Amino acid sequence: MRVLAHVYTYRVELGRRSYPILIGAGLIARPDLFDQHLFGRDVLLVSNTTVAPLYAAAVVGALGSRRVVEAILPDGEHHKTLANVSRLIDVLVANRFGRDCTVLALGGGVVGDMAGFAAATYQRGIAYVQIPTTLLAQVDSAVGGKTGVNHPGGKNLIGAFHQPNAVLADVRTLATLPQRELRAGIAEVLKYGLICDAPFFDWLEAHIDGLLARDLEALTHVIRRSCEIKAQIVGRDEYEHGERAVLNLGHTFAHAIEAATGYDRWLHGEAVAAGLFMAATLSYECGLMPATDVERIKRLLVQAGLPIDAHQVSVAAALEHMKMDKKVQGGRIRLVVPRSIGECFISVDYPDAALQRTLAACFG
Ligand code: NAD
Ligand code: GLY
Repeated sequence: MRVLAHVYTYRVELGRRSYPILIGAGLIARPDLFDQHLFGRDVLLVSNTTVAPLYAAAVVGALGSRRVVEAILPDGEHHKTLANVSRLIDVLVANRFGRDCTVLALGGGVVGDMAGFAAATYQRGIAYVQIPTTLLAQVDSAVGGKTGVNHPGGKNLIGAFHQPNAVLADVRTLATLPQRELRAGIAEVLKYGLICDAPFFDWLEAHIDGLLARDLEALTHVIRRSCEIKAQIVGRDEYEHGERAVLNLGHTFAHAIEAATGYDRWLHGEAVAAGLFMAATLSYECGLMPATDVERIKRLLVQAGLPIDAHQVSVAAALEHMKMDKKVQGGRIRLVVPRSIGECFISVDYPDAALQRTLAACFG
């Protein structure tokens, strides 16, 4: 099939820090791609106990005669900690890695965020390449240079912006992804339609069954469009001084759900799904989004098998965690509000009563 043989390339345009996002089938086993995008002879391959047995051998096989050291982390969001990043730094030091090396992040967003943060901080910054293996990481977390870890007090509270040298998104790795993880990735895909691309949202409504059945052409299409949108937004606002914050649609609610439930019951993408519906509800409560749009969002989330509320988290707990969000400004929670499907804005002056009604409807 034509689509499977092709490597689609997008660029994140950031001057000297520009880099390509390559999307295609079989990329992790291509020595030519590693030759083009790796820096130096020393490679730290960071993965976890689930992904390494599946794909590390293929990657190592494509690395040729380079010196490869593997660092295999425990699996799970609750392992996304400063202690584990510190272990990665220990491995770099123990193996006397200099600044002329490359960290490879092979895995989902948890591995990518930690490996990226280790690369951001070791010797004040070394090269790294993202090899995302979840849908969520291929459409979102591997692109854009946000790296970091959680703190018990809040999600992603410790981190740095550090752009990768390249992103290699191999769609074939998605074949082994558990269905629940695939659904979680679809939440971040829906986000792009909601924030800025109504035709893409229409397309998702028409193709949701194909996506859930892992049709490779459908998956490739959503990874391409998602990366294209993210690359453009990051290219315009790398450090989130303005526009980039729209990529956090639903995330203030989502991070509160994740933090309130100890990072181990909800997948990030599931929390984002509920957060998207909460943001739509808030917009409706503010008198903005028509009920028909809210209903379409709900229908698509439910069709994708994703949650739309979090009644096991109390309103008080949700609010407490929302106040720890990085977007809080002058004590006021800044929220991304969708005006309609395909259009959103950042607001601090939504009516408090509208937020209270939203929280009361969606939390316990
Ligand atoms: P994850 O990294 O925990 O991966 C999900 C699960 O799938 C894990 O158990 C993992 O081991 C397994 N897995 C990964 N690839 C697999 C494969 N091909 N086959 C079988 N199993 C596989 O979760 P995620 O959803 O990829 O990422 C979520 C994380 O990403 C969160 O910590 C979130 O905060 C972060 N994130 C970061 C950004 C960013 O811009 N940096 C953006 C969005 C999300
Ligand atoms: N996932 C949000 C961002 O990268 O900005």
